[in-house]
Amino acid sequence: MRKAVVTFVLVTLVVLGFAVHNVWILLSLLVVDGSEDAISKAELPAPNSPAINDRPQLIPKIIHQTYVNDSIPVHWQGPQQSCLDLHPDYEYKLWTDKKAREFIAAEYPWFLETFDGYPYPIQRADAIRYFVLHHFGGIYIDLDDGCNRSLDPLLAYPAWVRRTSPTGISNDAMGAVPRHPFFLKAIDSLPEYNRKWILPYITVMATTGPLYLSIIWRHYNNANPQGDDRVRVLFPSEYNNHSWSFFTHNLGNSWHSSDVRLIFWMAQHWIFLTFLGFTIGFSLLLCIYHTCIKPRQTNQKSRFAYARIPFYRRVSQKSIELDDRHEV
Ligand SMILES: *[C@@H]1O[C@H](CO)[C@@H](O)[C@H](O)[C@H]1NC(C)=O
Repeated sequence: MRKAVVTFVLVTLVVLGFAVHNVWILLSLLVVDGSEDAISKAELPAPNSPAINDRPQLIPKIIHQTYVNDSIPVHWQGPQQSCLDLHPDYEYKLWTDKKAREFIAAEYPWFLETFDGYPYPIQRADAIRYFVLHHFGGIYIDLDDGCNRSLDPLLAYPAWVRRTSPTGISNDAMGAVPRHPFFLKAIDSLPEYNRKWILPYITVMATTGPLYLSIIWRHYNNANPQGDDRVRVLFPSEYNNHSWSFFTHNLGNSWHSSDVRLIFWMAQHWIFLTFLGFTIGFSLLLCIYHTCIKPRQTNQKSRFAYARIPFYRRVSQKSIELDDRHEV
């Protein structure tokens, strides 16, 4: 009896420890908002200020975008053109599926198998942006985001991303110098995170998408990078449809599905769900304790208890009981 209980408690602790360890970064995302790395409005020159030209321009002037092929749909041509018009001195790179694959094959062949193996095209579209930022540096912009002013002031930060709601950072617009350690970590970790989850939306989010990048960002920051190695964060007040904001957002996400509503519901009810998860986990462990550990013990004490064990369990325990008798 003693031994069984001790084993049970130990197993429970290990399982619980493992569960907490696994969700720790996720839980920390709910608390950490990145404000310590915020690019504040105060430090950004106004849209037409001459101060823009006094700032260092560390990030190369390249705009990266991705699409299936060269035929950009009409509803995204406006936002795309707004970025081209404001940045005549930037190089423009559109990463079509074909170009993206050729680039990975040539520059990052170790990743090609994972890249080709992704079940959802959006995973390749997510992954390629981290690789091109790592390789060339520059600024990546989603096709559904338009530009509202020159991005020049943002060239002064060696790496930046955007804060998103409800939690974490987004991968829809971000910039970096070539070979920044954050994007190195982002590309290096992709194979390790390549798993299948139950819902496509979760799979995409957690293997390559914003959730993936947010988790990498937490791990990266936990290693305490200093100075230029830190990733700066643009907050919604600096980018959301104000006269001073950098981007305009055009609704028209290309891959929204019914999973999305479920995820947003889950995000809103995360306390309840965490509680529910732990309750179910504990109930399961208690169940295991009662059916596997306890009966065997009472079984040896009395025939009456043995009779109460369901038939299917009695059959499975026959061999154990025979062994016990031999010992006697
Ligand atoms: C480009 O991709 C779109 C979306 O898959 C498709 O409808 C279109 O026919 C493609 N255009 C060309 C030129 O292949």
